[in-house]
Amino acid sequence: MTQNSALSRIKHPDFAAKLMDAHDAAQWINPGTTLGMSGFTGSGYPKAVPQALAQRIAAAHAQGDAFQVSVWSGASTGPELDGALSQVDGIRTRLPYNSDPITRQKINSGDIDYVDIHLSQVAPMAWEGVLGQLSTAVIELSGITENGDLIPSSSVGNNKTWLDMADQVILEVNSWQSPLLDGMHDIYYGTALPPNRRPIPLIKPDDRIGQPRFTVDPKKVVAVVATDIPDRNAPFKAPDATAQTIADNILDFLTWDAKRAGLPNSLLPLQSGVGNVPNAVMAGLIAAPFENMTAFTEVIQDGMLDMIEAGTLRMASATAFSLSPEKAAYFNANAAFFRDKLILRPQDISNNPELVRRLGCIAMNGMIEADIYGNINSTHVMGSRMQNGIGGSGDFARNSYLSIFMTPSTAKNGKISAIVPMAAHVDHISQDAQVIVTEQGLADLRGLSPKQRARQIIDRCAHPDYRDALSEYFARAQRDSFGNHAPHLLSQALSWHQRYIETGTMKP
Ligand code: COA
Repeated sequence: MTQNSALSRIKHPDFAAKLMDAHDAAQWINPGTTLGMSGFTGSGYPKAVPQALAQRIAAAHAQGDAFQVSVWSGASTGPELDGALSQVDGIRTRLPYNSDPITRQKINSGDIDYVDIHLSQVAPMAWEGVLGQLSTAVIELSGITENGDLIPSSSVGNNKTWLDMADQVILEVNSWQSPLLDGMHDIYYGTALPPNRRPIPLIKPDDRIGQPRFTVDPKKVVAVVATDIPDRNAPFKAPDATAQTIADNILDFLTWDAKRAGLPNSLLPLQSGVGNVPNAVMAGLIAAPFENMTAFTEVIQDGMLDMIEAGTLRMASATAFSLSPEKAAYFNANAAFFRDKLILRPQDISNNPELVRRLGCIAMNGMIEADIYGNINSTHVMGSRMQNGIGGSGDFARNSYLSIFMTPSTAKNGKISAIVPMAAHVDHISQDAQVIVTEQGLADLRGLSPKQRARQIIDRCAHPDYRDALSEYFARAQRDSFGNHAPHLLSQALSWHQRYIETGTMKP
């Protein structure tokens, strides 16, 4: 069945001739090499070959033989890739973003070297040669045309780069993916490294500047594998009252600020980060007094499809889907409606700082914690434990027209304050966080000095359980700090984190 439906999608005889079992394809991968995998936020990643490779690695380890590979991807993948390979200790080095729980555990136990890179920078850095040699590209497709062109799947990520750079290529043709994905992609082949880089000719989110499919040198393709395994499609938590209040706070602010700035009713292109809270904000925007909005973003989440159906969003440009299982099935059943409203691009284009700055995006990203001056930690719990990675948040936060960071004011049932005296790790400096919002309220920090920012953040964003303690710290810091521009007491600034590590709560 899989073979038949996949065969009907492999229209070029030379590629069909290379059709083989995933275990035979995995034999092409050698220990110690680097793999460029497709996949971005749980969509469009190869599923059969990584699982076959994991079995091969487990068998090698059982014989006492060393066998690990390095894995580059677009962003997070799924249990059949990161999960399966990490489970058998098969990954040596991993980049640039991960949300798989087993891989996270091995990163934090120190068993995997994890390289957390701005997503827009991965392809250029790979081309610069600083990441090392790419041996094998393993790329999921939704089909291969009569001409041998490759029809992308539900994510584009770094696939163009891996296909061009790798010494050899393994293709997985997945018949679970909608055939109507064909034509939705815009693959730009005009990037170059300095000094030959040219302006990217994209002026509006709906501009098409490339071609719908990838090309590959057929001589490099060593194996084609047929699958029908669904994307991971992790469910989102249903928006709770906290997420809803955060969404309401953002909506009120955007309505006010659009009027203040005289923005059009379509606002400016939206960017929405990964996670439950950003997804809830998108859902909340359905009720916004805006229309014909656009998105220039990284992932298309459930909330964006809802906005498109409701007519509030006209179109979305991204690099991948990041849908719940129900929404993925819904998309597949209704792809004909959505396909001319969605464009998937390589991630060095979807997240490109030049384009984000030109378009004037409104960036809305989740965070782990913010400090009283508005430095943002998106990645490291208690300063040392990796949650997911910086993803595209830096690409957008630094370059957007407006950069909003959001979080519930507490985590872990109130034992952790998301507003802390000093962030235990900084991904986004205070200049890149213009608005901070929790369910308690919203702080508009534009044009404020550090001490003015602190007053706003403590008063408007901190949870009442922690507000007095933050105010006391801020007052003591103003009295005893070495400098009084952004006052801190260095011996106490991280004491809340230390207390949590020692006692299980930040509360005194
Ligand atoms: N301290 C400790 N843990 C915290 C925390 C804090 N201050 N804030 C959140 N967490 C934990 C939550 O408890 C939860 O843990 P669980 O999975 O064990 O329940 C987990 O982090 C996710 O938090 P949640 O509140 O569900 O938020 P989210 O799904 O919106 O994710 C981030 C928040 C920060 C993890 C997520 O936005 C992220 O990875 N951001 C970085 C990448 C990014 O912004 N990409 C977008 C670019 S386009």
